[in-house]
Amino acid sequence: MGPITAISWAPSGAVRIVDQQLLPDAWRERDLEDAAAVVQAIRALQVRGAPLIGIAAAMGLVAGLREQRSAARDAFLTRQTELEALLGAARPTAVNLAWALARMRCVAQATSGDGRALWERLRAEADAILEEDRAMCRRIGAAGLPLIGAGASVLTHCNAGALATGGIGTALAPIYLAHEHGRAVGVYVTETRPVLQGARLAAWELTRAGIPCTVIVDSAAAALLREHRVQLVIVGADRIAANGDFANKIGTYGLALLARHHGVPFYCAAPSSTIDSNLENGADIPIEQRPTEEVTHVAGRRVAPESAQVWNPAFDVTPASLVTGYVTDQGLVRPPFRPTA
Ligand code: MRU
Repeated sequence: MGPITAISWAPSGAVRIVDQQLLPDAWRERDLEDAAAVVQAIRALQVRGAPLIGIAAAMGLVAGLREQRSAARDAFLTRQTELEALLGAARPTAVNLAWALARMRCVAQATSGDGRALWERLRAEADAILEEDRAMCRRIGAAGLPLIGAGASVLTHCNAGALATGGIGTALAPIYLAHEHGRAVGVYVTETRPVLQGARLAAWELTRAGIPCTVIVDSAAAALLREHRVQLVIVGADRIAANGDFANKIGTYGLALLARHHGVPFYCAAPSSTIDSNLENGADIPIEQRPTEEVTHVAGRRVAPESAQVWNPAFDVTPASLVTGYVTDQGLVRPPFRPTA
């Protein structure tokens, strides 16, 4: 079974994604021809996961700037600024989106020439962002591999695998490498309400790779940990503050509390592009509120009364004090996280 390619270039220069809302029923690719289509796909969670939306934003910028290739430098840069604003507003929590767009901006500013020269440089940079993410995933896997002994059972939340990145994932990367090394490893996956990234996506890609996987409802995690059915918990991240507080899929904080209560190590796995060292702690991480229908409806059918109100934060913040370690492309590390450049 070949690797999962969650994002690529279409021959037309559009951004080719797999529509993750249709998984696991169908693998359907969609070609996003411009930045507006990329924004729409990000908002609809057709393309999702912190590293992947950063990559999608960079590629979406390039796709959207195709029509500016014959423009003069100033006109090209003006359009780039407009598209950056559009793409940057797609989702607020994962810092990878803003990180990728800022990187594209720096590169454009440092490049001389007209629209064609700028566009070619930006296309090369988007390729580099994708390639680097792929490499970072493998380094995260290598850093986390010693945590996954033969026969280990691991709990993960949401989908922080190949479908969320340009490579083999973040939280799932050490599990994939352990499997590659022939270690028997089992994974418990929370279904991850309301959008079911665990049941639909993580379970799909793990079973596709031949890794035994057990899906639990989110509310079964406490019993699972009390029964010591797992030796560690490993999750991804959407934004990590300088002190190590981090945002991840709603429910992560609860899992960290449970892990601490039951004496189970709790790890956060992420690439450098997820670290926001401008934020001192997690209090200032913007948390996305998602549409109420994600909660009131299950598989298109209303399950909550019309008059019920809904609170639907997509992410929560886990304090650094609950984290055993951070599995990153720089190794197994502890905060503080300082700017690298
Ligand atoms: O709303 P989503 O599906 O984009 O949320 C994704 C998560 O919270 C992941 O755990 C996180 O982005 C890490 S992905 C490598």
